[in-house]
Amino acid sequence: MKKISLTGIKPTGELHIGNYFGAIKPALELASSYDARYFIADYHALNTIKDPTELSSLIRGVAAGWLAAGLDPEKVIFYRQSSIPETFELSTQLAAFTPKGLMNRAHAYKAAVQENGEKGNDPDAGVNMGLYTYPVLMAADIILFDSDVVPVGSDQVQHIEMAQDIAGAVNYNYKQEVLKIPQAVIQQNVAVVPGLDGRKMSKSYGNTIPLFSPEKQLRKLIMRIVTNSQPLEEPKEPEQSQIYLLYKLFATAEEQASLAARYRAGGMGWGEAKEELFRAANRELSPLRERYEAIMADPVGLDRILAEGAAKARPIAAATVKRFRKASGIDL
Ligand code: ADP
Ligand code: TRP
Repeated sequence: MKKISLTGIKPTGELHIGNYFGAIKPALELASSYDARYFIADYHALNTIKDPTELSSLIRGVAAGWLAAGLDPEKVIFYRQSSIPETFELSTQLAAFTPKGLMNRAHAYKAAVQENGEKGNDPDAGVNMGLYTYPVLMAADIILFDSDVVPVGSDQVQHIEMAQDIAGAVNYNYKQEVLKIPQAVIQQNVAVVPGLDGRKMSKSYGNTIPLFSPEKQLRKLIMRIVTNSQPLEEPKEPEQSQIYLLYKLFATAEEQASLAARYRAGGMGWGEAKEELFRAANRELSPLRERYEAIMADPVGLDRILAEGAAKARPIAAATVKRFRKASGIDL
């Protein structure tokens, strides 16, 4: 039997190339050797997105993004979190085994509290219970499907460790393996995709290149990448340039070696390097963009794919919840 790989993406913004190289592509690679279960974490997005039109369109956009990037719904169980009510039952079950102190230590919550402190606000200002208990819901997402591995970015490792702790506490209490303990997998070579300003590409920094940018916008964004004032003649170190770091994601080994040599030789300006990056990025992204547009033009077809995925996912989810109900004495 194949091991199980599971991951989810929160539909809180347009997918960008950091999400693609850091999350979607590695997850799709794992799907060839694992039984994959990939989903849209839409109730996680509700914590921040309160506009209904925006939330619906982000849910469809992220779903279409996975499919455009090559997810095959015949091979991968692909669904929306909100279509699996067992998630919310397991989340309640797990909450009973989650120390409050564990939630106090979660990075996202701590960051919110710290920011409030710096602004002189009440520590919990703007913090809803969805954000506070986020790690419990995420643990439920993972544990529900008997996940062996969870491909995520390094920022999510703490959440996986919490899922391990919570599942471990359940198993320890009932002296049996009620729940499977998951492991995080992080693809090291694409750990952090840099954004236009050199910081990590993230929608919260507003420095992203959206994955499905039309060609013109893609070019414009690449031309906006921040560079230093080194003169044209000066030799440049490729690994210290985010243009080159982004180029490496799209270019073949020979292309990388050739651009690196041009950097080191001097005489090449940033504009030329950006043109090379645009060419390589557009070559890889054009077919994705076309597929994305076709999927978005057929929302009925998209919703059908997601409904079929949910129908495959629910019996697996029901079995996990049932195991817990039996072990705990809730089932009489
Ligand atoms: P954002 O930082 O834009 O809000 P999310 O937190 O929604 O992105 O990330 C969704 C997934 O994409 C996660 O697995 C995350 O680790 C990955 N990811 C996001 N940004 C990057 C990046 N710049 N480099 C690599 N992976 C990333
Ligand atoms: N918290 C993840 C993120 O912000 C999204 C997510 C929700 C997730 N549930 C998950 C990822 C379960 C992996 C497994 O990126």
